[in-house]
Amino acid sequence: MPTRFDPAGPLRGSLRPPADKSVSHRAALIAAMGEGTTTVEGYLDAADTRSTLAAVQALGARVETADGLGSRLRIQGMGLRGAGSAEIDVGNAGTLLRLLPGWLAGQEGGKWTLDGDDSIRRRPVDRIADPLRQMGARLAAREERLPPLQVTGAALHGFTYEMPIASAQVKSCLLFAGLLADSETAVVESHPSRDHTERMLAAAGAELHSVDGTVTIQPAQRLEPAAIVVPADISSAAFFLVAATLLGGSEVVLESVGVNPTRTGILTILGRMGADIEVEPRGETGGEPIADLRVRPAELRGTEVGGAEIPLAIDELPLVALAACFAEGTTTIRDAAELRRKESDRVETVCTALNALGGEVEPTADGMVVTGSGGLRGGTIASHGDHRIAMLGAVAGLASREGVAVEGMDAAAVSYPGFERDLGSLLRGGS
Ligand code: S3P
Repeated sequence: MPTRFDPAGPLRGSLRPPADKSVSHRAALIAAMGEGTTTVEGYLDAADTRSTLAAVQALGARVETADGLGSRLRIQGMGLRGAGSAEIDVGNAGTLLRLLPGWLAGQEGGKWTLDGDDSIRRRPVDRIADPLRQMGARLAAREERLPPLQVTGAALHGFTYEMPIASAQVKSCLLFAGLLADSETAVVESHPSRDHTERMLAAAGAELHSVDGTVTIQPAQRLEPAAIVVPADISSAAFFLVAATLLGGSEVVLESVGVNPTRTGILTILGRMGADIEVEPRGETGGEPIADLRVRPAELRGTEVGGAEIPLAIDELPLVALAACFAEGTTTIRDAAELRRKESDRVETVCTALNALGGEVEPTADGMVVTGSGGLRGGTIASHGDHRIAMLGAVAGLASREGVAVEGMDAAAVSYPGFERDLGSLLRGGS
């Protein structure tokens, strides 16, 4: 049964969106690499990050969730070289699929297989396998580029790698591998991508430097992670940023949201489109800057998005396209071919969904062109198992003229299991 989202609003009140998915994945992995026990405050309780906890447990870490997953975790690591051989089910988690092999590849004597759901089986691993092999890693993938991925631990050598695409997943994978290599590893980025791994590894004592787009890391004997506090996820907050912008009479405050500058592209883009979002800084948590975001409705205009802005807003580009349907003028998203390799081919799934609702969105090889028409009629869309498409459909429904039925709304649980509850609470005025 599809889930219906009828025209509604305004959204009013405040809420803390769920914990950051990217930071949570890294917290579990880096705590597992550590010596002793690391506490993680506010770990994301969602399908993707449960997969990562199950993975580190399968490798030998001990995870205590006495106070419940979402509040405080204690993870007893097994050290940088102590992961036991295992078959790992990454579920739907592309970040786990890309990050974990970097750590495993340098552990001689171990053997691992990483596999996941149907969507994961379509997601390329050659982007990590090729550079890891240059370091000496032993890897085997289906058709050379798809999961299941087999990793056999081997001696790794430091190297310099110029990433052909800006990818935080590839960068993080190689930094993990660099910890176990025999000499310095350098990763060169064309444009900055999210740097949570660098921050967390440096806090754990790794010798790591980031200068002019090159991150270098030295081999390490041990990591001692600091206590980790996970901020709220700007990628989840973004659904309410767009919803409150589109729904007249709204005023929403999203609390303690991570505003690491490598993640805030959505704020810059929506700001340029005319959105009214106030950023009220609230200091730092666990090495990540946080802020409250206050959003009120605004009239939007079209914009151009491309180049260095893409990695800073990669997961929010579907929402930019939705906002653009309501804007005056044309919005062009380019340099975003990576969108085609996410949980779904998001160029296709976003264009198909928005066009089914009465939008005018044209796919291109590396993005899309949206002709703003001042609104959306409504209709039925499919999530294609992609959490961000499901939640996009919900926001579109509230702002549409006739409502939207979303097939596969359950996909939202990958990153935001309480999404419908939180949306309902803002519709009731924050109660
Ligand atoms: C992520 C990086 C991004 C993003 C993904 C999470 C991460 O992927 O799309 O949802 O946590 O490192 P790429 O780095 O491959 O673009």
